[in-house]
Amino acid sequence: MHYSVSFPQGNIQYLLNTAFNSAIELCSPKDTIIITDKNIAAFYASKFQEYKAVIEIKAGEQSKNTETVHYIIDQLLKHEVHRKSFLLGVGGGMVTDITGYVASTYMRGINFGFAPTSLLGMVDAAIGGKNGINYQLQKNLIGTISQPSFILFDRNFLDTLPDDEWSNGFAEIIKYACLFDQGLFNELHDRNIEYYKKNNAALASLISKCVDWKNKIVLTDEHEHGKRKILNFGHTAGHAFETIARIPHGQAVGLGMLVACALSQSIGLTKDVYHKLKHTLGNYNLPTEVNCDIDQTIEVITMDKKRNNDGIDFVLLNTIGKSTIKNTSIKEIKAAIEIFINESNY
Ligand SMILES: NC(=O)c1ccc[n+]([C@@H]2O[C@H](COP(=O)([O-])OP(=O)(O)OC[C@H]3O[C@@H](n4cnc5c(N)ncnc54)[C@H](O)[C@@H]3O)[C@@H](O)[C@H]2O)c1
Repeated sequence: MHYSVSFPQGNIQYLLNTAFNSAIELCSPKDTIIITDKNIAAFYASKFQEYKAVIEIKAGEQSKNTETVHYIIDQLLKHEVHRKSFLLGVGGGMVTDITGYVASTYMRGINFGFAPTSLLGMVDAAIGGKNGINYQLQKNLIGTISQPSFILFDRNFLDTLPDDEWSNGFAEIIKYACLFDQGLFNELHDRNIEYYKKNNAALASLISKCVDWKNKIVLTDEHEHGKRKILNFGHTAGHAFETIARIPHGQAVGLGMLVACALSQSIGLTKDVYHKLKHTLGNYNLPTEVNCDIDQTIEVITMDKKRNNDGIDFVLLNTIGKSTIKNTSIKEIKAAIEIFINESNY
């Protein structure tokens, strides 16, 4: 399925269920440089042969930094990349974030596109125009908001995606279900990761729904002044767990959503949602418990940039499909984290 969405900077083409080979119809290979990571190149280098050049960067979040940006720019200069050239990021969120950042700053901006290869890239990272890199200990501190010309979704890339990365992607899919779709929440609860790995049509439908939801939100609030903030559901506590317990982002977001659901009981969310979410996370091999120091967790949460007066803006659920941003006191957060970490009786 192909369609385009109009952003202030221009149209973005979405090519769902589309073979990567079709990218040559969207950008001229002789003017296009592929940016990818070494893991992806090891599997798919043969698909990149027609392009002007391929820049391979080291895989992993630790590569999303200024050093890699400089390395890419040196390579662009070496290949005489100019204003009319095109950059195509083929990879997970790390690759698409850095490709978008380099493309939107090199020579004050050149055109770019994405072919996400991880599930998380397909349902989240490649969509929405946020590009960037980490700096020192701060994630995504440096970046731009700039939209690609196209995003091409080829499910075949997922055949080589490691199991843990599938789970990370599902954490974001479960997040969308919590925020927007009771029917999907029930479906995810009743199915599991193996079902979607084997059932292409069901997976394609999931990806397409997530693309739609993210687009709808981004179109109303591209620069995250308001509505886009709800996409941070699960990320406030999740980010703290990710930092302290050094667990992958998706796993941490799953745990963060449980904390947010526990806190959401103050605005009427029923306890059964917490239990259903816990069961669902388990179906996608996501953890439901974490071993973290409580004070350190609070410390990281309170350093969070969404701090406001004496509280933190937390995305909470009134019910599945309806969310509210509530300024939540540190005391309340601490109580919820304590109960969560101590595995009390939620
Ligand atoms: N811009 C946004 O709006 C946004 C949103 C969410 C996340 N992100 C960013 O996305 C990044 C996380 O994305 P990610 O989870 O895709 O991480 P990633 O790009 O680091 O990929 C995870 C791992 O999977 C491997 N991989 C990816 N696709 C593969 C494939 N088809 N076959 C084999 N291996 C494959 C990668 O080499 C890597 O080792 C973070 O940097 C995060 O900040 C950005």
